Amino acid sequence: MNILVLGSGGREHALAWKLAQSPKCQQLFIAPGNAGTQLVGTNLALDPMDFKAIGALCKEENIAMVVVGPEAPLVAGLVDYFQSETALSHIQMIGPDKAAAQLEGSKRVAKEFMQKHHIPTALYQSFKKDELAQGQAFLEKMQPPYVLKADGLAAGKGVLILESLQEAKDELAAMLQGKFGAASDEVVIEEFLSGREFSVFALTDGKNYQILPVAKDYKRIGEGDTGLNTGGMGAVSPVAFADEKLMQKVEERIVKPTISGIAQAGNYYRGFVFFGLIEVKGEPYVIEYNVRLGDPETEVVLPRVKNDWVQLLKAAAQETLGGEPLEIDENFACTVMAVSEGYPESYEKGKVISGLTQIPQLQDVISFHAGTKAQNKEVVTAGGRVIAFTGLGPTKEKALQHSYKALQTICFEGITYRTDIGHDA
Ligand code: AMP
Ligand code: GLY
Repeated sequence: MNILVLGSGGREHALAWKLAQSPKCQQLFIAPGNAGTQLVGTNLALDPMDFKAIGALCKEENIAMVVVGPEAPLVAGLVDYFQSETALSHIQMIGPDKAAAQLEGSKRVAKEFMQKHHIPTALYQSFKKDELAQGQAFLEKMQPPYVLKADGLAAGKGVLILESLQEAKDELAAMLQGKFGAASDEVVIEEFLSGREFSVFALTDGKNYQILPVAKDYKRIGEGDTGLNTGGMGAVSPVAFADEKLMQKVEERIVKPTISGIAQAGNYYRGFVFFGLIEVKGEPYVIEYNVRLGDPETEVVLPRVKNDWVQLLKAAAQETLGGEPLEIDENFACTVMAVSEGYPESYEKGKVISGLTQIPQLQDVISFHAGTKAQNKEVVTAGGRVIAFTGLGPTKEKALQHSYKALQTICFEGITYRTDIGHDA
């Protein structure tokens, strides 16, 4: 079958890399892709938010399956668009429809869903534009630190964690007045949970699910988890503290009720559910849902799943996922992201990346491009997160050695990466 992957990050390169390994994958397209995805498929300069152009391409190239990497097209209704067009409605969509994507698109909807299905999460209340006074009164009853979340998508910047009550009240006012545009027309205030975060992904066909290997990402720019939040500087899988006992609780208390809640709601959901979790004294809680895979977690999760990925996604699309148990590689996978100097604030692009041709000679390491672009005969930087190297090995330390060896093999002006990925939380 011909397959289209939407997106341009390390996650999409990992997806394309995995799909291309399947004998069932005939032609593979990535829109818009990066310099790495064009090594495993054909890049197309299309915006994943331009539904008409994506639809036209699918007709032209006889695409049978669309795998959606990022959340924005899902929250904006890409799946609904395909379902509503006669010439596109037969295409298998990996991603939820607009209504189901609200689990990520609205923090309030996600919290209401968890409350309804008794899924453990932080206590909360949500406040609309004209409810500032009520919101501030609620803050007075809470303990610091105060957690304020813009209801809508805010490019990963919509969560504020504040120490002082006054600051929290002021920020609440600013948010309700449009600090994050329409995304903060409504604000969720919730209890602060202190613990260790980890990421669990389930692939679902709307009824059945398969839980992918557990991962942990390292979100902050600086060593020792300090400094600004980023999209993710590295990841590991498996995660030592997410042992069998904890994962059983995750499945029983979180994954099962979430999937049955999704089934009950009756929307279309064939694809990935991302559980952003936190372990507090041995008990798992949901911090957030996403309706897609995580980045850079995908870069450590996919290399550990041995199944034919096209077959797996087809089973998700055709509601036969129950019969597709996962085969997991026992090796550790670690990924370290090389980023542009200045990221996650301002940075320069267009820096030539050298040394890439030597990577295939290295043992047990895979490169997943993120912000890269082919230019003339070179590969240049084209984003904040540039390239991730996933090392594999029988121990976490061995896997990390392989990642760092690759990082020392390449170079670009301003290359920056954390040297402590994999440290225990
Ligand atoms: P989110 O965008 O919901 O993933 O939030 C971003 C980050 O804020 C999370 O990854 C956590 O590190 C932190 N965070 C969010 N909610 C809470 C909470 N209730 N307690 C503690 N930390 C939180
Ligand atoms: N790594 C977290 C995310 O993809 O949202």
